[in-house]
Amino acid sequence: MDARALAADFDLERLTPEFYVNPYPTYHALRETHPVKRMPNGSYFLTRYDDLVTAYKNTRAFSSDKKKEFAPKYGASLLYEHHTTSLVFNDPPIHTRVRRLIMGALSPRAIAEMEGDLVQLVDRLLDDIAGKRSFDLIGDFAAAIPIEVIGNLLDVPHDEREPLRDWSLAILGALEPVIGEAAFARGNNAVKDFLAYLEVLVERRRGRPGNPERDVLTRLIQGEADGEKLTEKELLHNCIFLLNAGHETTTNLIGNGLVALSEHPDQKQRLIAHPDMIKTAVEEMLRYESSNQLGNRMTVEPVELGGLALPAGTPVTLCIGAANRDPAQFPDPERFDIGRTPNRHLAFATGAHQCAGMALARLEGAIAISHFLARFPDYAPDGEPVRGGRVRFRGFLNVPCATKA
Ligand code: HEM
Repeated sequence: MDARALAADFDLERLTPEFYVNPYPTYHALRETHPVKRMPNGSYFLTRYDDLVTAYKNTRAFSSDKKKEFAPKYGASLLYEHHTTSLVFNDPPIHTRVRRLIMGALSPRAIAEMEGDLVQLVDRLLDDIAGKRSFDLIGDFAAAIPIEVIGNLLDVPHDEREPLRDWSLAILGALEPVIGEAAFARGNNAVKDFLAYLEVLVERRRGRPGNPERDVLTRLIQGEADGEKLTEKELLHNCIFLLNAGHETTTNLIGNGLVALSEHPDQKQRLIAHPDMIKTAVEEMLRYESSNQLGNRMTVEPVELGGLALPAGTPVTLCIGAANRDPAQFPDPERFDIGRTPNRHLAFATGAHQCAGMALARLEGAIAISHFLARFPDYAPDGEPVRGGRVRFRGFLNVPCATKA
């Protein structure tokens, strides 16, 4: 299909299996021929870097509040309550309040202090893998790291962490553009079970507070010194959000990054020869296969984008995956280049809602990938990887791997 037809036919609610495997030819076609593309449901799909930056930076015109959009999708459900209470789907002043509390616990100092535990965790996982000939890059490694890190951040006891991953996958899965009854029920039940668990955890923590410098839950419970506190509902839903925000995205950074390296042996050798390139390599992994591919906003005043006038009340989808390969911003954007600088990608978005956990995600990515590569420089696929099959969160469910080719 030629580019014009590919872009003209694009409908976020009717995606093809080929699209899920490789969405980039479609994104390329959209950016070139329909950069502000109207979807049959009346929303608009944006693919140009500059248009995304405009939308992210103008919080007055582009709202993150999802109450209108989610009411028909979720009805009066716990899933609705959850997604409309978390900070990412709110505008100031609710957003500002919660963000301030969370950012305090994710300060550069707090994150630097996590490094020692993180190295130990990664090395322990690598020891376990060394004992096997074949392993799953996702289950045995990439997914095991963020769940422990966020578990530590909220200080969830180790033996209570097991359900966290499935809850998180189910709740985020319900954010896909179209969901069936089963996905809705899974998401809703996950919120219910998660809330029940957190109520117990919060009660225990109120009785025995942790160190608010390190423990986000204690920090959120105590609120700010000047008396700014979260309601019980805000507290619980934002804890859930924090776990979700930092889990699948970071798993996918590690998984996508290691798969990209194995598909680009020259870049893999370059990183092995120059381990000090890990920082730019992680940025390139974030750009090239962004783990969070889509963002959403709603116009609350008339705006002009790409020569089109969008009235107030228009939902827009911001395609990070497409913007991160925009040749107007990135020379030779389809090339995976671990030394790329500058690399002002939008994997963490930009503006008021820019990822609050990006320093942590970068640290996790750098330690996981560099230690993995040092230990298993000859790792190779050992079977067909299984993609997550989602458009918003791009990553793998399983990547069978051998420690030696
Ligand atoms: C590679 C990993 C990650 C990626 C790609 C990522 C991506 C993003 C993006 C694109 C947003 C903006 C959403 C929007 O406004 O449309 C966001 C927000 C957020 N992320 Fe991340 N994230 C990652 C890891 C993390 C981690 C590890 C944490 C915390 C532990 C975290 C916490 C948050 C929070 C709290 C927000 C909401 C910020 C706000 O609304 O002000 N993220 N993330």
